[in-house]
Amino acid sequence: MEEQQNLIVVRMVKREVDGLGLSAKRRTAAGHSAVVIEEVIRGGPADQTGMVQPGDTIVAVNGQDTESLSYQEATKVIGDIEPGKQVELVLRGPKWFHTYLETVRLSSGETRTVRVTRPNGPIGALTLLIQRMRGNTFDKRAIRRLENRGDIPLYSRGVANGDVIKSIPNGTIANGCPVTGHRASTVGPSATRRPVRLKNWLNERRIHDNLHAKANDVNPCSDGKCLGPLMRPRPFTAPGYFRPKEEVLEQAEKFIFEYYASLKRSDVADRDRRWRDVQVQIEEKGVYHLTYGELTYAAKMSWRNSPRCIGRIQWSKLQLFDARDVTTARGMFEAICRHVKWCTNGGNIRSAITVFPPRTDGRHDYKVWNGQFLKYAAYQLPDGSILGDPINLEFTEVCQALGWKGEGTRFDLLPLVLSANGEDPEWFDIPRDIVMEVNITHPKYDWFEELGIKWYCVPAVSNMLFDCGGLEFTAAPFSGWYMGTEVGRDLCDANRLNITEAVGKRMGLDVARNSSLWKDAVFVEVNIAVLHSFQRNNVTIMDHHTASESFMKHLENEQRLRGGCPSDWVWIVPPMSASLTEVFHQEMANYHVRPSFEYQEDAWLVHLWRKKPKHPVLLKFAYDENPPRRCSLKEVALAVTFAASLMKMALNERVKTTILYATETGKSESFASLHFGIFKHAFDAKMMCMDDYDITHLEKEELVIVVTSTFGNGDPPDNGEAFGQALLHMRHPPGSDGKKRSGSVRRVSSISKASYRRQQKLLRQLRDGGALGNVRYGVFALGSRAYPHFCAFGHAIDTLFEELGAERIHPVGEGDELCGQEESFRAWAKGAFKFACERYDVGHDVNMEEANASLLGSDFSWAPGKFRIVQTKGLPETDVLEGLSKLHRRTLVSSTVISRTQLQAPESGRQTCLVELETHGAQELKYVPGDHVAIFPANEDRLVQAILDRLEKGTNPDAVILIEALQEKKSASGLVKTWTSHNRLPPCSLRTALSRYLDVTTPPSPQLLLYLAMHTCTRTSSRERAELEALGKGGARYEDWKFEAAPTLPEVLQDYPSLQVPPALLLSQLPVLQQRYYSISSSPHMYPGQIHATVAVVKYRTRGGKGPEHSGVCSNWLNTININESVPCFIRTAKNFHLPEDPSLPVLMVGPGTGIAPLRSFWQQRQVDIKDGTTSRHPPGDMTLGVRLYTVQTGPHLQGETTQARRDGALTDIHTALSREPGTTKTYVQDIIRQQIPRKVLDLVLRDGGHVYVCGDVTMATDVCETIQRILVEHGGMSRARAEDFINTMKDNNRYHEDIFGVTLKTHEVENEARKRGMSLLVTSDDEDTSL
Ligand SMILES: Cc1cc2nc3c(=O)[nH]c(=O)nc-3n(C[C@H](O)[C@H](O)[C@H](O)COP(=O)(O)OP(=O)(O)OC[C@H]3O[C@@H](n4cnc5c(N)ncnc54)[C@H](O)[C@@H]3O)c2cc1C
Ligand SMILES: Cc1cc2nc3c(=O)[nH]c(=O)nc-3n(C[C@H](O)[C@H](O)[C@H](O)COP(=O)(O)O)c2cc1C
Repeated sequence: MEEQQNLIVVRMVKREVDGLGLSAKRRTAAGHSAVVIEEVIRGGPADQTGMVQPGDTIVAVNGQDTESLSYQEATKVIGDIEPGKQVELVLRGPKWFHTYLETVRLSSGETRTVRVTRPNGPIGALTLLIQRMRGNTFDKRAIRRLENRGDIPLYSRGVANGDVIKSIPNGTIANGCPVTGHRASTVGPSATRRPVRLKNWLNERRIHDNLHAKANDVNPCSDGKCLGPLMRPRPFTAPGYFRPKEEVLEQAEKFIFEYYASLKRSDVADRDRRWRDVQVQIEEKGVYHLTYGELTYAAKMSWRNSPRCIGRIQWSKLQLFDARDVTTARGMFEAICRHVKWCTNGGNIRSAITVFPPRTDGRHDYKVWNGQFLKYAAYQLPDGSILGDPINLEFTEVCQALGWKGEGTRFDLLPLVLSANGEDPEWFDIPRDIVMEVNITHPKYDWFEELGIKWYCVPAVSNMLFDCGGLEFTAAPFSGWYMGTEVGRDLCDANRLNITEAVGKRMGLDVARNSSLWKDAVFVEVNIAVLHSFQRNNVTIMDHHTASESFMKHLENEQRLRGGCPSDWVWIVPPMSASLTEVFHQEMANYHVRPSFEYQEDAWLVHLWRKKPKHPVLLKFAYDENPPRRCSLKEVALAVTFAASLMKMALNERVKTTILYATETGKSESFASLHFGIFKHAFDAKMMCMDDYDITHLEKEELVIVVTSTFGNGDPPDNGEAFGQALLHMRHPPGSDGKKRSGSVRRVSSISKASYRRQQKLLRQLRDGGALGNVRYGVFALGSRAYPHFCAFGHAIDTLFEELGAERIHPVGEGDELCGQEESFRAWAKGAFKFACERYDVGHDVNMEEANASLLGSDFSWAPGKFRIVQTKGLPETDVLEGLSKLHRRTLVSSTVISRTQLQAPESGRQTCLVELETHGAQELKYVPGDHVAIFPANEDRLVQAILDRLEKGTNPDAVILIEALQEKKSASGLVKTWTSHNRLPPCSLRTALSRYLDVTTPPSPQLLLYLAMHTCTRTSSRERAELEALGKGGARYEDWKFEAAPTLPEVLQDYPSLQVPPALLLSQLPVLQQRYYSISSSPHMYPGQIHATVAVVKYRTRGGKGPEHSGVCSNWLNTININESVPCFIRTAKNFHLPEDPSLPVLMVGPGTGIAPLRSFWQQRQVDIKDGTTSRHPPGDMTLGVRLYTVQTGPHLQGETTQARRDGALTDIHTALSREPGTTKTYVQDIIRQQIPRKVLDLVLRDGGHVYVCGDVTMATDVCETIQRILVEHGGMSRARAEDFINTMKDNNRYHEDIFGVTLKTHEVENEARKRGMSLLVTSDDEDTSL
């Protein structure tokens, strides 16, 4: 070994296996490329000399000058040397240093030749300074940048007197991470690394990891401590940070060379051309464009290099979605939807990554704010407990602060929050129909289902940074499939759903003693349930044993293919039965190799807001780029805590108000949210569906506002039933007075006024000591006076609250669908808010006008210039099914019409059709006889065209558009207005919106008429504006107009020819077209994969039969839609209308007209059961059918079917009431029951425990019920009251079933009657309103 000026000569022997034990790279300088040593492999020949360092330039090899050669020629010279031969390298030490050899005497007395590298100029000195400061206070990133520059040497092993001496024996690195050898104070990233021996303690097999030699210096470990187990061990970059050009160049070069080396037919010329191209791009823009092939390779390698992933055996099967052309948050949203759909694949999950544009300057980043695409929200409840997945509490707050409103359930999917190009974030609800979730059930424990747990099927990590080739992709979400224990932990971890104790108790385990290992037993069963549920639903999932085996196989592959596999033992070993899996016994080496996925700070903590957020939650988290002065961490922490506590105190001081709603068609929910809007002004309000409310919290509430409709025939909506029952249970605890109580909530409301008064004394007593003694409340009930039990459920709730001792703050409100429902609601809500403020002495500072305005849903109320339509360039129209799913926030499925049969002869003058739909095996469309199918129709083309013809010109009706709303925000600099997307409708054409999403046939509401009035042309007609304004005031005039003409929107446009309606008005203000329900008319066993509906086609003339003909939207659509056309739908379970479990019980079915629909499914089911022998043990009981048919006109279809059913033994008796038969008097089903089969009915209900099913319109159902009561009185000797009670008990015990279609027959008469009653009340409520 010799030494000249900054040159040293080093000799070694080339080895068979690792050659010289170094890797080289090219550096271009002064017009020629030099061969520079990049890495020295620990234990290799170069390392063993102790003289070779990364950064040295190879000047000559065995006497041949390599500096005059090209890079390829120079490396070829070294490559051509035969193993076993002596090699002499002349090396030039790093720039800015003086390198030479020196003989030193050690303290042992020995002499040794060592290499000395002494700083030679300011940069060298600086480097040394850095060297001393490393690991202490110096900015590590700055060091890394310096280190990564190839011309600055990195030192290893020992510092003496300012010189760096390489003289410590090989392999003895003290206090560093044992694998990478990282030792923050002395060892650099490219320190020589020798193979790490890794042992498998089960089979004693040993492997050597060499790959770690390529590891980057981003290991967090430092002297004396290993930080591997930290969740996020690597430091984050500060907001606004971006890589310096040199760093990008260096990593790009490495990547491009690696990529070309990976290609089977790699061509050096190609590679060099590409590299030149990349260099030019980086020089110009600081970044460059990866080809699709490069990006795919990088994405796969990132997965392959992820030390924490156990499922990497699949790394080469990753689908890349290249979304680098996306520029907006909406574009990101659409790309993500495509990703989710593709990955879900009906449960056969596939792995994918979507890559959005890379970071350019740190200020235009693309980010997915969600940690995963799919996550459940978390809501803090008044008692401090959390509803939902607690891990997402902070993010849920952020979403809410951005304007998202969850449904308040335990499994509310959070929206996607996306920021594109550094813009402020936007949120998007994920369409329900693309999200697959699995209800968690257990193969052995049936009760598991009652826990009501579900989980989503695609785990998609969306907030990591994808680091490849020097580029940083800040949004590159990727997804795979679950390992069972991941979901198991989500359910059981104490900071997650934490169901461990609940399950333990249900399992009957001793949860008081740790030593019973109950937690372990629970965890196993929960994991069994998870695997079982996913598998049962054909969703890909892997158990941890199989995952462990696959990982061992992967390790073996990787050892063979690239000499190692970075693996984080802490994460790879499953959280359950760890030592039973082989990975537990396998030593692993954890290090960091690029391309890679990196953790990023939560987006809401580092986002550089374009517009300073207003919301306190966002402000609390917002990153301040220019803090007024630097505070210590402690100060910052204190300040944050203080601000948060102030906020909390302010909120805590407010009275907590819980707004509960129950709804069938959504009106109560939207009224509840208006309530929420007004109460927010002075109360700490929250809103949730009754079904999601934990009734045990009720006693601790301060103020409860209930908004609910009534359904069926005086019954609660489905999602209010459990709440109603629970209240009833509270009021009448079982066995409290020795009597068995009726379970009917409805009946609570039917107490007479006299008995109500009699109860007052008792109520006052109860109030003082009742369970809800500390609660105040108000109820607004929605209903329709067309029904005998008007607003019954709302009244029942009101009564129960009062009986339980709660104090009513405002008399129960009633909103009649037939007459001024919205107005009644607004009047009531204003009153309730005012009285609540008075009662609690709050809201003195509230601007009542502003608060009341919120009842108009002011944010999105109409004003000219407030909305605009924008064309979406190139954006495709959202598929209707997807659009409807988003709009209705539920999973809709497409079925197809396969046939349609007219059931009535043409002369009948009416139409009823049997529509048969194909479900294509969709799981979501499985049903049992008695269930309903909800259908989403389209408006008639004729009506849509009539509207389009009358709209303001300028918008192409077939171009894809979006609506934007101008939002005003107060800021320090005044009022700021911005156009934000109004996410009401998906991207679609005007025609599609009017045809599929919006209701154009329901008479416009008073509010809409007022908006229309603004767009009459006063020059041509001031009368029209005045008229519309008068109608827009609501009240009697409006109700008369609506009742007489029931005008559709096209008719209004026709009646007011001066109207010039802006399309944005309709798109933003028309109500949403609702689904229609149909009782399913088929048995799934007789017609697998089909749904049949028996549909009465609605047509009527307004103005007492003299007006234009109106056609019901859905029934006419179903009657005219082409075969094979798609019908969006979902199934609604009608659990109170299913056949009795015991088939031997006799059954009476009454279904006049289309009421026959569900009954057909019953007899068909029984036909199948008889044929299959299912009923052989219990011979089927009598099945009597009572129908009303127009025998002369009725087509043969149904008659043939009922005759066959009778032959098969399914139907015992069929009784037909004749209606509209020429020359006969009309008979009704109730006449048949009373006249022909009274004894049979008596025996069936009284003696044989039989079931009664009544289906059709509400008037008929009421008549049938009264007829059966009469039979009990006349033939059963009961009193009227007893008979009524008897039928009610039958209903409570699920023996008397009603399937009510609403008011379908005699609509006009019934409405007229009801209206008369309603109008007088409306007048009263108008008066009440003005007194406020
Ligand atoms: C649980 C359930 C099950 C049902 N099952 C069936 C079934 O199996 N088969 C079936 O055919 N239907 C069934 N229906 C009724 C069905 O859902 C629809 O209401 C019906 O098909 C009409 O819908 P449409 O869209 O055609 O009419 P719409 O466009 O909804 O028009 C109907 C509306 O028009 C108005 N109207 C009707 N007649 C007059 C009149 N003479 N004067 C003034 N206004 C009038 C009323 O406001 C009425 O609500 C069921 C309903 C429910 C709730
Ligand atoms: C099938 C059906 C049954 C109904 N039954 C009743 C009833 O028994 N009593 C009542 O007051 N209203 C009844 N209604 C009217 C609803 O309560 C009314 O439409 C209400 O506005 C719906 O509110 P929601 O959208 O919140 O469910 C019924 C409506 C339908 C369609």
